Amino acid sequence: MKRILTYGTFDVLHYGHINLLKRAKALGDYLIVGLSSDEFNALKNKKSYYTYEQRKIILEACRYVDLVVPENNWEQKIDDVQKYQADIFVMGDDWEGKFDFLKDYCEVVYLPRTPDVSSTKTKAEKLHV
Ligand code: CTP
Repeated sequence: MKRILTYGTFDVLHYGHINLLKRAKALGDYLIVGLSSDEFNALKNKKSYYTYEQRKIILEACRYVDLVVPENNWEQKIDDVQKYQADIFVMGDDWEGKFDFLKDYCEVVYLPRTPDVSSTKTKAEKLHV
């Protein structure tokens, strides 16, 4: 059984997120998502539209996601890889190279980002109805 681990805020879930989660899951059998807590987002100067608990409910309803765990800080990734026995760490290629230090512990894969969509963009754009 191959276990995959990925991280993110996944606010106002969009098709770019689903593309990422679908391809991540296809690399193995069990997908674990480290979901940024509201406190960790604040630390990154990010504010999500939905709370952690709300984002967790939405992610858990996604067929590609098997487990959602909190991401509380930058340092927990090595511990998480070991704790959840991850075989592959996956991120979108906006993070290319940033997590290569995990290669001592598991395989590291960067997947191409889906163009022209992001939570920030969705939140910023006004709908003309
Ligand atoms: N992602 C992707 N394609 C997109 C947007 C996100 O593949 N168009 C991936 C990211 O690379 C990351 C994961 O989805 O691996 C979660 O990203 P997150 O930062 O939560 O989503 P964004 O939409 O990029 O959010 P923001 O605009 O707040 O940065």
